[in-house]
Amino acid sequence: MSTQFHNVLAPKINNPDIQPELRNTQGYIMVGHGRDDVWHALIRFRGGADPGAVREALAEIVTNITRITPTTDLVDQSQRDNAKLVVSALGFTWRGYERMGFADCAASFSLEFREGFAARSQDVTGRGWETWNREQWDPYNGYHALLILAAGRRVDGRPFLGDCQKKINDNFNGVADVTWLKGKLSRTGGIPNKPKENFGFTDGVSQPVLLSDKSRPGIAVTRKSGWVPEAAPNLVLIHEPIPGNDGRAEFGSYMAFLNIEQHVELFENAARGLQKKLKLPTREQAEALMIGREQDGSPLIKHMDGTDVNDFAAGTDESGEKWPFACHTRKMNSREPGQEHHRIVRRGVSYQNGALRGMYFQCFQANLQEQFEFLFKRWANFRSQPKEGCGVDPIVGFDSNHPQQWPVPPKDGALRNADPEIVSVSISGLTTIRGGEYFYFPSIPFLQSLNKQSSGASGSAGY
Ligand code: HEM
Repeated sequence: MSTQFHNVLAPKINNPDIQPELRNTQGYIMVGHGRDDVWHALIRFRGGADPGAVREALAEIVTNITRITPTTDLVDQSQRDNAKLVVSALGFTWRGYERMGFADCAASFSLEFREGFAARSQDVTGRGWETWNREQWDPYNGYHALLILAAGRRVDGRPFLGDCQKKINDNFNGVADVTWLKGKLSRTGGIPNKPKENFGFTDGVSQPVLLSDKSRPGIAVTRKSGWVPEAAPNLVLIHEPIPGNDGRAEFGSYMAFLNIEQHVELFENAARGLQKKLKLPTREQAEALMIGREQDGSPLIKHMDGTDVNDFAAGTDESGEKWPFACHTRKMNSREPGQEHHRIVRRGVSYQNGALRGMYFQCFQANLQEQFEFLFKRWANFRSQPKEGCGVDPIVGFDSNHPQQWPVPPKDGALRNADPEIVSVSISGLTTIRGGEYFYFPSIPFLQSLNKQSSGASGSAGY
C-alpha cells in the first residue's frame, strides 16, 4: 500500500491501509499544527562531540522530553484541539547528518541539500550573505538540527514551550548549543483559522491539500479554472533515505527555512507610491495589488465568488488588470497548467521583536531544486514570469533595474481584458534575508532508532 500512499492524490486519512505511513511521517510536514506559539531550536553540535553522544542526546529528546508528532495525531480532531499538546518536529542539515556519523549516506540525499542554503543563496535568491544576521546565522559554521515546538490556541502556549525549552537546554549541556527563535501567529486574518503576516495579509491560504477527510467540510467543489487543490503526498515526501524499522512505509521531507525581515514602513510607502501612480482611492488597494490578494485572503477577481478562494482562473484575466502579473501570488503560482509539481507546502511563522518584524519562512518539498529554488530563482527573480517583462516579485524579488509593469485597474471594476494602461513602478527591498538553512525532516522510526543506529557512524567530520 505504501506505493499508493504517496502517489495517490490526497489519500483519505481514515483509510486503514495508510495508517503505518501516517504514523511514521512527521505531522508538521503534512498538516498545519494549528497552534499560535511556535519556537524554533536551532541546534549546533559542539566541535569534537562524539557522534554517539550526539545521537544519544537527540534520542533522549525524542523519547523522553517531547514526542515528535506523527501525522495520525494532527488528523485526530481531539488531539488537534488540545492546545496544551506540544506539536514537535525535528530535522537535520547535511552537516548535522555528518556530525551524527552518517557521512557514508551522502548519495542518498540530494546535492542541493548537502550543499546547503548558505552555499546556494547567491544563485537562488540573487543575494549572498551580506545581509545575514551573523550573530544568529554563521554561514561558515551552519546549524546541525532544527527542533520546532508549537503550542497554544486561545490559551497561552508559552508555559508549555518554556518547560520543554529548559529540559532541552539541560539535555544538550556539553553536547550542543541552542539558538531559540520564537515566533507567534496572529489569527486575526479574514479566513477563519488562517494566520495574518506582518504586512497585514491573511497567509497560508493557498496550500496543496495532501490528505483528504470526507467527514469534515472540505474545499469547495465548484471550480472555474484548471486549479487543482489536491496533491499526492509525493509532492513533499521522499522515501526515507536511512530507514528506522520499516523502510517501505517511511517517508521524510526537505525544508527550506529562512529568516526574512519585513520592512513594514517601506511596504506601506511603496503602496502609497503605487496608489498615486494608479490613481487608486486607498493605499490598501495598492497593497492588495502587490500581494495579489485582498488583506482578508479573498481573491482579487471578484466574479469568482462561491468558488475555492484559490481558484483564480488566470485565463479569465489575460491582461492582468485585476490580478497583476507582477504581484506576489501570480509570480509564485500563475496557475498555468502543468506547473503543479513546483508547488510547496508553506509553514511560515511571523515574529515581532520591538520594531523588528519578519517571518520564519518554512516550506516543505520533495525536491528543493524543482520547488523552493525554482520558485525563487525562475519565478520570483525572473522578470518575464509569468508574462514578458512584467518585473520581479515585489515581496522577495531582487532586481530594482527592471520596474514592474502595473496595469491600471478598471474604474468600474468590470473585467475588460482589453489592453489596459500600464504604469511602470519599481518596488523592491521590502524584505531582507537574514539567514537560512536547508533541513531534512526524517521518518519517525529513523528518529526513534537514533541511539541504535551505528552503521555509517564514521566519526566527526570536524566542522
Ligand atoms: C516575508 C516574506 C513573505 C511574505 C510576507 C509572503 C506573503 C504571502 C502572502 C500574504 C501570500 C498570500 C496568501 C496565501 O496564498 O497563502 C503568499 C502566498 C505565497 N507565497 Fe509568499 N510571502 C513571503 C515569502 C515567500 C517566499 C520566500 C516564497 C517562496 C520562495 C513564497 C511563496 C509563496 C507561494 C507559493 C504563495 C502561494 C501563491 C498561490 O498559490 O496563490 N513566499 N505569500
